[in-house]
Amino acid sequence: MTKYFIGLILIMGSNIAFAKCSINIEASDAMQFNQSNITIDSSCKKLTLTLKHTGKLPVNAMGHNWVMTKSSDMTDIANAGLAAGLSNNYLPNNDQRVIASTKIIGGGQSDIIEIDVSKLTKGGDYVFFCSFPGHWAIMKGKVSVI
Ligand code: CO
Repeated sequence: MTKYFIGLILIMGSNIAFAKCSINIEASDAMQFNQSNITIDSSCKKLTLTLKHTGKLPVNAMGHNWVMTKSSDMTDIANAGLAAGLSNNYLPNNDQRVIASTKIIGGGQSDIIEIDVSKLTKGGDYVFFCSFPGHWAIMKGKVSVI
């Protein structure tokens, strides 16, 4: 009985120390993300990321996605995404430079993805952006892996 309670206390204690392994991001009709810096804790095995479009405009007018790449790959991926079109979520197919991405969503929609954190490098130079045409100039930010 005592052993059981000690075990229970240890489990509860370790819960408090767990890293935050889920992130919620919002994008709006004003063509903006609500965050410009995202931190991923490398002690997370997987990170659950939820993108929510808080606006009302349809996907073809104000579509948003959340795409993560290395900083040096962003422009190339954004340009390739432009050519790929909406039916491909404005991203090149099976491009290994895309580390993670949600689908393109319109107002009132959301998408949830899981990111394999073990593939990321601590201190790596990562960014996130929306690959909808013209959005990445404004809709972008830094991803820090700590
Ligand atoms: Co967008």
